[in-house]
Amino acid sequence: MYKAGNVLMVCLGNICRSPIAQGVFENISKKFDINVDSAGVANYHIGYHPDKRSINIAQKNGIDISMQKARQISVNDFFSFDYIFVMDKQNFYDVNKLMSRYKTNSLVQLLNDPFEIEDPYYGDEKGFEIVYDKIYQGCKRVVNNWK
Ligand code: 4NP
Repeated sequence: MYKAGNVLMVCLGNICRSPIAQGVFENISKKFDINVDSAGVANYHIGYHPDKRSINIAQKNGIDISMQKARQISVNDFFSFDYIFVMDKQNFYDVNKLMSRYKTNSLVQLLNDPFEIEDPYYGDEKGFEIVYDKIYQGCKRVVNNWK
């Protein structure tokens, strides 16, 4: 069992995967007094709302993520979040590289460890359904291991 803590969900653009992960995690972690947020490694989409396909699949599952806005991960995050959950191995590598210059206790882990949640951006709606299911499994895995 792990202690509950603040969670940052991270993907590349912060418009497809991590906004869903933020929404799902907020939804299933209500009994814990924690902050949940999301960010991207890249700066491509700063200030944008999530991809319509992400908004739709979340909506289908009763979660509204339409008000979220993309931002880029920053140094402060390494001191504000106990857990940084990433979607794929490239995110894992990038976040660890950014963190390596700082003394921080944030734990970086694949959300659906040991599996990756692949980038659905260039795919179709089906890809977003698969991504949603993997994100949900990953979020459940974390919450089930918290006390
Ligand atoms: P995300 O998906 O990392 O899940 O937000 C992507 C969104 C945009 C791009 C790549 C991935 N892009 O290359 O613009």
